[in-house]
Amino acid sequence: MKLILLGPPGSGKGTQAAFIRDRFQIPVISTGDIIRAQLKSGSEEGLKLKSYIDQGELVPDDLVIRIVEDRLAQPDCQNGFILDGFPRTVAQAQALEAMGTKVDAVIDIALPDEIIVDRLSGRRVCPSCGASYHTTVIPSANGTHCDRCGSELVQRNDDTPAVIRNRLAVYGESTAPLTAYYRAEGKVIPISSEGSVEDVKAAIFGALEALQ
Ligand code: AP5
Repeated sequence: MKLILLGPPGSGKGTQAAFIRDRFQIPVISTGDIIRAQLKSGSEEGLKLKSYIDQGELVPDDLVIRIVEDRLAQPDCQNGFILDGFPRTVAQAQALEAMGTKVDAVIDIALPDEIIVDRLSGRRVCPSCGASYHTTVIPSANGTHCDRCGSELVQRNDDTPAVIRNRLAVYGESTAPLTAYYRAEGKVIPISSEGSVEDVKAAIFGALEALQ
């Protein structure tokens, strides 16, 4: 199963990608996570990317396309994968096709902007294992540390109100056109993320099981 998770920042792509990974035993390729790991490594390439992420701007296409091409060549992707956060531009979608990758479905998650702002403002992430929480909806057991590995939870630099607004604007301009792009191929599965995490998961699993 080769899937794309499309949707605005904070719509729940990462949350749902983890459920799909566990259910279908296929890896999640999150370009955001890969770029943040490069940043953390302190590499020269990582440092160049910091200003894009911190301002909520897209990293240049050629860099992110190279990252995905390298990752898709790994053996664990041979039976399928979930692309979370890629493609984000029509040029990236065309590059994915040029790599010879045919996706089975594009799960297009929708959520109104005002709910997105609330979800992203409350998001806390584990800097060690990457687990994601929300201060009120999905808190960790003690509210400050990761349930999985015990590290102190942090807020992402790009989860501030001004940067969230810019990320939403960038999404509308550069990424939203991908819905029409993939709809023309008959691959779009629209999913609303307004319900609970479990409701959204059930809607996605129902659609994927029908697809199988
Ligand atoms: P990236 O890391 O991909 O960020 P994003 O797309 O903005 O998405 P998020 O991770 O913010 O949100 P999400 O949809 O995964 O939501 P989540 O599940 O966490 O990208 C970051 C940056 O990297 C970009 O701005 C860009 O600079 C760069 N980049 C990455 N890919 C790129 C590309 N292809 N090209 C160029 N640049 C690229 O959920 C959010 C919160 O809501 C969490 O707290 C969660 O617990 C909570 N939640 C989830 N579902 C529910 C629910 N149903 N009810 C209540 N709360 C919920």
